[in-house]
Amino acid sequence: MAIALIVAAGRGERLGTSGPKAFVSVAGRPMIAWSIDAFRASGSVREIVVALPPGWEPSESEAAELDGCIRCEGGEDRSLSVRAALEAASAGEADEPVLVHDAARALVESHLIEELVLAVAPGSGCQAAIAACPVTDTIKVADEGGFVLSTPERSTLKSVQTPQAFSRNVLERALAQDDGVLSAATDDAALVAQLGIKVLLVDAPTENFKVTEPKDLELANLILSRRTAGGSI
Ligand code: CTP
Ligand code: MG
Repeated sequence: MAIALIVAAGRGERLGTSGPKAFVSVAGRPMIAWSIDAFRASGSVREIVVALPPGWEPSESEAAELDGCIRCEGGEDRSLSVRAALEAASAGEADEPVLVHDAARALVESHLIEELVLAVAPGSGCQAAIAACPVTDTIKVADEGGFVLSTPERSTLKSVQTPQAFSRNVLERALAQDDGVLSAATDDAALVAQLGIKVLLVDAPTENFKVTEPKDLELANLILSRRTAGGSI
């Protein structure tokens, strides 16, 4: 069995709505409820821990969506919220799979979660696996003056998402570093890779995007409304 850590302690400054982004309404429910549903629907997740904004209290209906989840206070930066969530989880085996997920990726589906858990299952020989999709734009590396330095081969480039899955002892080691190191990390896989652990890329759909700006919220509303109506987009 696996545990899931859903980080929801961000402020959502780029989205620009009042209140925490994870509780903004998407297709009629708080954004985080959609991810929680996907983890609940996955047969291999035994526990869900949610990192919430420090000092923020959910309303009665918001709390109802978190029913059965362990709640903890997040940190100033994302990785600090991940560490707080892992510390709040119940004890488990050293090789137990731990999934880390952004509440802002409301469109995650259970089959992707299952694939990631399988990838890092005890005995698999793999201790880190992350959701990623191919990039469709050509990517340029820029120099300091704003000119093109190089053009990496597109077929080798992946856009990385969450969930990211790790053996519990590996994630614990990666997070047992100074706050400054954690704050500088853009994802958990980078911290794990710094330990010399190989990270497997698992194909994920572009639909598993992160709600960051208002246009993302519009698209998430549309897709989730269609999904609940039984359609697809
Ligand atoms: N997150 C967190 N704790 C933080 C910062 C971010 O738990 N201190 C979470 C967010 O809640 C989100 C995920 O990390 O689910 C990805 O972060 P991002 O999309 O950047 O969300 P915000 O930080 O909330 O948005 P912004 O950067 O626009 O303020
Ligand atoms: Mg942020």
